[in-house]
Amino acid sequence: MKILISDPIHSDGVNLLRSEGFEVDEKFYLSKEELKKAIGDYEAIIVRSKTKMTKEIIEAGNKLKVIGRAGVGLDNVDKEAAEKKGIKVINTPDVSTSSVAELVFGFIISMARHIPKATESIKKGEFDKEKFSGMEVAGKTIGIIGVGRIGYAVAKRAEAFEMKVIGYDPYVNSSDKIKMVDLETILRDSDIITVHVPLTDQTRHMISNKEINKMKRGVLLINAARGGIIDEEAVKDGLDKGIIGGIALDVFESEKPFKSVLLPYDNFVGTPHIGAQTEEAQKRAGIEIAKKVLNELKNLNR
Ligand SMILES: NC(=O)c1ccc[n+]([C@@H]2O[C@H](COP(=O)([O-])OP(=O)(O)OC[C@H]3O[C@@H](n4cnc5c(N)ncnc54)[C@H](O)[C@@H]3O)[C@@H](O)[C@H]2O)c1
Repeated sequence: MKILISDPIHSDGVNLLRSEGFEVDEKFYLSKEELKKAIGDYEAIIVRSKTKMTKEIIEAGNKLKVIGRAGVGLDNVDKEAAEKKGIKVINTPDVSTSSVAELVFGFIISMARHIPKATESIKKGEFDKEKFSGMEVAGKTIGIIGVGRIGYAVAKRAEAFEMKVIGYDPYVNSSDKIKMVDLETILRDSDIITVHVPLTDQTRHMISNKEINKMKRGVLLINAARGGIIDEEAVKDGLDKGIIGGIALDVFESEKPFKSVLLPYDNFVGTPHIGAQTEEAQKRAGIEIAKKVLNELKNLNR
């Protein structure tokens, strides 16, 4: 059986597939037309986020049995079209949890201690400590919205930083590390708020003007989940009013093309969607998706 890898995955994953006797082709950055032409030769395809598995591509996959996504989000796969053709769609939701949670702490300390701005200033030859008076996070309250894999991993790390941890998640009633509260309490009591929910009709702009106006003055906000959960225009307003003390984003409402109204602000910290971009997470994703795809293909022969 033949497997197409259309976005780069870790070489350990590719080697694993080959070691089991499957024919593996790595063809990256194919155009829509090229992929549509090629897909008919393969029983399985492995993608990351770049390859768009649209209805048209899926329908052209005459032999296709498995679509493997190395990573979490399945936004680039038409699951309905796959289901209709009996094609199994699998992903690796656990592999990036630690990497994203660690990035969140990078953001928190960067904002609390002004690390990016301080670095910029010493590179210019300045050495002015008065400009960079910061905030300790010990004893502060962190509000976690969405207490799933990453939300919980953030809570574990917050405990080590001696923070008070509160959380809101309509689908989670209790947690050993987090005091579960309602959204109003998160907004009112948190010194730091971080969102870890999926992007859905319910969560799009779930942090907007109304919510920001209820927050503590100087609150630090973080979104390393999906662009659009926090309304960037509303954050701009919150920064202008002095309600928001810092905003950190790994994900943006407009990534392609990239734009954000928050870039000019001194208390903005940002990264280009690198939450899962660590050697460890990528290696885990490559190996885990290879194992899962192998498992599915072997099951076909039973
Ligand atoms: N920055 C990155 O590169 C990166 C990498 C991995 C994951 N992510 C994103 O991080 C987010 C969290 O991932 P996860 O693995 O923890 O997911 P998860 O499914 O384990 O957890 C999500 C939690 O959100 C909760 N939730 C759903 N709707 C809610 C609402 N309206 N209010 C409050 N809570 C709600 C769910 O009950 C669940 O507990 C996702 O958006 C995911 O796409 C980003």
